[in-house]
Amino acid sequence: MLTGKRILLVIGGGIAAYKALDLIRRLRERGASVRAVLTPAAAHFVTPLSVAALSGEKVNEDLFSLTDEAEMGHIELSRDADLLVVVPATADLLAKMANGLANDLASTLLLATDKRTLVAPAMNLRMWLHPATQRNVQRLRDDGVVFVGPVDGSMACGEFGPGRMSEPLEIVGGIEEMLKHSTVIALPNGETANALRGKHVVITSGPTHEPIDPVRYIANRSSGRQGHAIAAAVAAAGAKVTLISGPVTLPDPRDVTTVHVETAQEMLEATRQALPADLFIAAAAVADWRVAQTSDNKIKKGKDAPVLTFAENPDILATVSTLKQQRPKLVVGFAAETQNVEDYARQKLARKKCDMIVANDVSPATGVMGGDENTVHIVTAAGIETWPKMKKDEVAVKLIALLAQRLEADA
Ligand code: C5P
Repeated sequence: MLTGKRILLVIGGGIAAYKALDLIRRLRERGASVRAVLTPAAAHFVTPLSVAALSGEKVNEDLFSLTDEAEMGHIELSRDADLLVVVPATADLLAKMANGLANDLASTLLLATDKRTLVAPAMNLRMWLHPATQRNVQRLRDDGVVFVGPVDGSMACGEFGPGRMSEPLEIVGGIEEMLKHSTVIALPNGETANALRGKHVVITSGPTHEPIDPVRYIANRSSGRQGHAIAAAVAAAGAKVTLISGPVTLPDPRDVTTVHVETAQEMLEATRQALPADLFIAAAAVADWRVAQTSDNKIKKGKDAPVLTFAENPDILATVSTLKQQRPKLVVGFAAETQNVEDYARQKLARKKCDMIVANDVSPATGVMGGDENTVHIVTAAGIETWPKMKKDEVAVKLIALLAQRLEADA
């Protein structure tokens, strides 16, 4: 999974720095190369000699080192990496990162990069819980920095609570997850990478919220995970992606233009605006109904319970499938069913006039809802193909390879 990946590891000055040594081993075992940078404080906890011996690479510590700059300038260090990893991320390092300070080699590298960054914080629980740290964490999350931990546990300072650094294998899991989407997509014809370069792909994702009055709405439990994962994978395949997202708590995927909407009608309008596209993927759980007459003011509690009447929402997938002009070359819908999965999917394909339905069984016994794995059926006019059970991300990659192939064949 990590073969050939280059990790730039920033080791911060905390007692958990010893775990960074094990992390280097774990990463190298998996085929990654690790170049390490120590903050001045880190050198009090682990020695540059241990880090160099384990990583098999020169360790960098000084921003103003003439020899290091001559060999490889500090900007090159991060340009050369696939991912920046900060272990342990101390309160001081997080504060510097959140505020864009660059007064030593580690903080300068972290600022002088357009690569993604993963941090594994470790600190005393009161430092972690302090509003200043929490503010910095939120800012970094908004900037797209990925956090692994901290976890609850006993700490070197003798206290117990949140602030303990995650174990190296957990950090490895986070690194693998982040690098997964930058993996090359191998097409069945043997061609690799950039399977969708030059294409525009529009994707809907998440639930819709249908207002009742200014403070209340009707919603569903969709998390948007599936649609957002597909958007990230499509972007990784080189396409220009417009993601029309209902209200979700997920961050906007990288390299994707995300349009935020609330209602089904807004989602349809945003979809129309986003066209033309080569490919449309409807992964959103759009509300079938909206409240016909929304109230301008909050409905007050009265003697009688209010009665809501509903109006049917537009079917975005069917609308896009039947566009006279600007119909994308391929239109794909999803079908989550709890019974007769294949039959219903076949009917949906015909009713919505789309080119493909990705159908799955979401009955509780399957564990698909909220789970990691999925068994999907690919329903097209040509028939039904059932894929073996696999991870949801693998489904996304396999689906994209298939769609790229279809687009190519239809070109
Ligand atoms: O009819 P059903 O909701 O089961 O169909 C699911 C598919 O139709 C999904 O791809 C979903 O995004 C799409 N859909 C839509 N607009 C609606 C309802 C469903 O685009 N109003």
